[in-house]
Amino acid sequence: VDPSSLKGSAVGFSIGTAVRDSRLSGQYNEVLQRDFNNLTSEFQMKMDVMYPAQDNYNFGPADAIVNYGVNNGIDIHGHALIWHNSTPNWVENFSGTDAEFEAMIEDYITTVLERYKGKVRSWDVVNEAIEDGSNELRNSVFRQRMGDDYIQKCYQFARNADPDVLLFYNDYNMASDSGKRAAMFDIVDTLNALDLIDGIGAQLHISYNGPSRSDIQAVVNGTVSRNLLMHFAELDIRTNPEGDNNVTALSSERAIAQSDKYKELAEIYNAIPLANKFALTVWGLKDNESWLLDFWGVPDFPLLYDANFDTKPAYQGFLEGL
Ligand code: XIL
Repeated sequence: VDPSSLKGSAVGFSIGTAVRDSRLSGQYNEVLQRDFNNLTSEFQMKMDVMYPAQDNYNFGPADAIVNYGVNNGIDIHGHALIWHNSTPNWVENFSGTDAEFEAMIEDYITTVLERYKGKVRSWDVVNEAIEDGSNELRNSVFRQRMGDDYIQKCYQFARNADPDVLLFYNDYNMASDSGKRAAMFDIVDTLNALDLIDGIGAQLHISYNGPSRSDIQAVVNGTVSRNLLMHFAELDIRTNPEGDNNVTALSSERAIAQSDKYKELAEIYNAIPLANKFALTVWGLKDNESWLLDFWGVPDFPLLYDANFDTKPAYQGFLEGL
């Protein structure tokens, strides 16, 4: 245990963050080497980037990230093979039959998993399959073309391609929405009965004031009771969930509230039985580069480091909780 760094403080699990190939050198490299031992590609291992046109793969950025991990002894979490929000146009408008569509998806999953065999430790196979509100399966092109059991098919393709890689299902709002949590566990139970899944990723894009500890614990409990690995997969904590456009800096009260929430998350994670621990991943490094700024279009300070790469109270709270 080395209590001076995040990864040094984490016992029995990894500390991850989201990266892109252009942010692996200089100060990024220093921070990555100090605090992290697991990396997720923020968007360059999604289908629209890796497979932009039929029979035409683009593995350049993904290779750079994977090689960085291999060269530095940092695990790579693959993210994400099938996601309705990163489906290339040619797949949305696929001109062949349904059978040809399914064969194309099998070929894609197989090609990617074989390429990174032994280098990528784990994959999110399907990401965010549950529709907001109804908690039914989203009517994505994958469901339309491959049927209601498309998820099972994709996990089977992945298992066949690499029986040793860990397979995860990843989604959001599983703590704040008990209906969504139940829908997610239904999907997982179907996969688990066929031994097609190894873990659950709870994204945990949350706010300083919620969801509560007990709601987060409910996600953990359901995962542990199913004997699966728990990934806190895309952690960030909004300090301005009210969406106040006049916020120009992080107030000391909000900084402390955020720090307390980061500490709570780390404590919850720490208490998970060792056999179910996997990784706790923060979705980015610096506040000014968080995806949330674009997503919500309002100021926020959701991460562990400020724009100057200085650690925030959030970092200290997180470290204390680990
Ligand atoms: C986001 C990235 O952060 C952005 O850079 C990208 O433009 C869109 O995707 N849920 C997920 C992540 O599973 O892949 C998303 O990442 C954030 C929401």
